[in-house]
Amino acid sequence: MRKIIVTSALPYANGPIHLGHMVEFIQTDIWKRFQQLIGNQCVYIWGSDAHGTPIMLRAEKEGITPEQLVSRIHQEHTRDFDDFHISYDNFYTTHSPENNELVCEIYRRLRDRGDIEIKTIIQAFDPIKNIFLPDRFVKGECPRCSTKDQYGDNCEHCGATYTPMELKNPRSVLSDATPIEKESEHYFFKLPNHEQFLREWTKEHIPPTVANKLDEWFTTGLQNWDISRDAPYFGFPIPDAPKGDQAKYFYVWLDAPIGYMASFKNLCSRRPDLHFDEYWSANSKTELHHFIGKDIMYFHALFWPATLHGAGYRTPTAIHTHGFLTVNGQKMSKSRGTFVKARTYLNHLDPEYLRYYFATKLTDSVEDIDLNFEDFRLRINSDLIGKYINIASRCAGFITKNFNGQLSAELVDAELFSSFVAQASSVALHYENRDYSRAMREIMLLADKANQYIADKAPWTLAKNPDTVAQVQAICTLGLNLFRVLTIYLKPVLPKLTEKVETFFNVDAFNWQDHAQPLLAHTINQFVPLMSRIEETQIAALIQSTKEDVI
Ligand code: 2FM
Ligand code: ZN
Repeated sequence: MRKIIVTSALPYANGPIHLGHMVEFIQTDIWKRFQQLIGNQCVYIWGSDAHGTPIMLRAEKEGITPEQLVSRIHQEHTRDFDDFHISYDNFYTTHSPENNELVCEIYRRLRDRGDIEIKTIIQAFDPIKNIFLPDRFVKGECPRCSTKDQYGDNCEHCGATYTPMELKNPRSVLSDATPIEKESEHYFFKLPNHEQFLREWTKEHIPPTVANKLDEWFTTGLQNWDISRDAPYFGFPIPDAPKGDQAKYFYVWLDAPIGYMASFKNLCSRRPDLHFDEYWSANSKTELHHFIGKDIMYFHALFWPATLHGAGYRTPTAIHTHGFLTVNGQKMSKSRGTFVKARTYLNHLDPEYLRYYFATKLTDSVEDIDLNFEDFRLRINSDLIGKYINIASRCAGFITKNFNGQLSAELVDAELFSSFVAQASSVALHYENRDYSRAMREIMLLADKANQYIADKAPWTLAKNPDTVAQVQAICTLGLNLFRVLTIYLKPVLPKLTEKVETFFNVDAFNWQDHAQPLLAHTINQFVPLMSRIEETQIAALIQSTKEDVI
């Protein structure tokens, strides 16, 4: 049995969950459920990313404390995850005592080994709001191409990168004031100290699909990383920095990934089978898998392993990186009605439609994936309703009505059944490699084969003739057994539908091994409709609600 931790990126606690987030959470959840189904121990931990300037300012605007904002959003987020059947073990928060303790401890260890440097830097400061301005809070004209209204870090038009004060006519987005330059002492993590380690580590732990990005980073050269921010800031104070107005805080991106550890630590307090050191000590035999988007690779592939290594903890087993979600081929947009909040989707459609649709699209690559509403509707109606569920709906009624719910004692075509069983290792391998798209294709090919078998045998014709009605039991028993194998293969993707199928078969929860043994001479329950088709009107209603959403 493998012992595994999986994580998704911690969502910021200052906005709604949208379908772009859900790609990753569903991807992580399918992998987690698959690992458990095959008998591994797998815990899924994450939480709210609670700190930083945007959260502090948003709370201020709403007239509440950042803690209140974080706790409200935390609740909204967990409701969305639960309703999408995300089977996390702990959704905690980075603003927690466990995290504060771990962050300070890691900082001390890094400092004591000479990985921290204090340096005075000059930064943009808003003289009206009395606050240092993060790059994104300064706007102005690009110093290279003069395009107006560009952020203080890079130009969306020509791609130039620069510091906020290099903008022409810079202004603070908070007060519209012209920022002034002000000195401040900052704390830096000396990333170059870990270059040798990172070159080795990334070779083994970062897949070749993103390796060219890494080459680029090493060629550009690793830089010291600024891990501090000035007051006012919502975060953890740096223990050996001054207090009060002069206080320094840890930058949100230092404490966010440590939030993975803190979430696990918190879970340990109520799960006696989990031990923090077994999972996080440098010589741990357990696995640690992070699922992230391609935009936060730098943090997870360089800063995070270097931090862990420097502080004497284990480093990740793998960083699984996915692309962005586009809707109808374009970036999600509110005006086009394609910026779909998780909650808005849930108000109109079954979460398992989307779980399946994303599964058909997900591979181990960083290519963007597209949600096309028409393709989505047709794919669900054709694959799940027209192929997979159709197998059961064509067979179940006969067993109930003609045979009192009793399955035959033998398989009429053992070879056909075996060909379904034989696919298990291939489907499992695709799940393991996060190539869900191939797993779904193989499962649907089997569904075609099952339907073909039923169509060839036409039990509905045989049932009409007293001489042949006995054959119907055998044919439908086989049909239902093929359906049962496919359900086990689909269980990580369709957990709720699987529960209904388990009830229908009148059995305990399926595990992966169950696929190999047919269910025979067994009484099943009455068939209930498992899922309905998606109607065009439902999609239209979803798009309409999306346009009306306040974000
Ligand atoms: O990019 C983001 O949305 C961050 N909140 C992700 C943090 S992931 C981890 F490092 F905590
Ligand atoms: Zn430019």
